[in-house]
Amino acid sequence: MQETFKMDDALSVIHNRKSVRKYTDKPVEKETMHVLIKAAMAACTSADKRPWSFIGITEKSKLFGLSNALKYGKMLKDAGAAIAVCGIPQPAMPDLANEFWVQDCAAATQNILLAAEAIQLGAVWIGIYPMTDRILFVRQILQIPEDVFPFSIVSLGYPCGIEKPKNKYDESKIHWNQW
Ligand SMILES: Cc1cc2nc3c(=O)[nH]c(=O)nc-3n(C[C@H](O)[C@H](O)[C@H](O)COP(=O)(O)O)c2cc1C
Repeated sequence: MQETFKMDDALSVIHNRKSVRKYTDKPVEKETMHVLIKAAMAACTSADKRPWSFIGITEKSKLFGLSNALKYGKMLKDAGAAIAVCGIPQPAMPDLANEFWVQDCAAATQNILLAAEAIQLGAVWIGIYPMTDRILFVRQILQIPEDVFPFSIVSLGYPCGIEKPKNKYDESKIHWNQW
């Protein structure tokens, strides 16, 4: 697997990342998913709590089930695999800091997308949390316990090459020293 991976420099990976929703039939190996999950676990995390768990989804029946349940996740029926990023609120954290698991899971999800781009795999973030209906569907299909929140699902597959990165740079959104 290793020799087929082209490791780009960080900035070109960041700027080339795009949401990929159309895939070839080439399967996504479990070993490749480990690479992505390891990247997810390297994300920054509030108070180093690491309030996350990951479900690697390789079974077609599960991918079909999620595709049927999620209006904006239809690409999952053609995906080679997916990763569900799950978060666990941290009751021991003071005040609202127990909500930082949301940011932690977002950072982990973005790391998966960037790692996928770095190994030329296509990926798209499917938003689950905080949409109540989506949380319920995903909990049911993936048998996730009540105290764990499905945060996002990343759909994965080798790209057909249709999608291109968008240039979102906008100078008008930058302020210096004050708004
Ligand atoms: C929180 C969040 C939720 C998203 N949910 C979905 C989704 O449910 N389905 C989907 O196709 N794309 C989803 N996306 C991907 C966005 O549509 C995409 O990032 C945006 O259009 C910009 O395109 P780009 O990723 O190619 O730069 C989501 C992205 C984020 C950050």
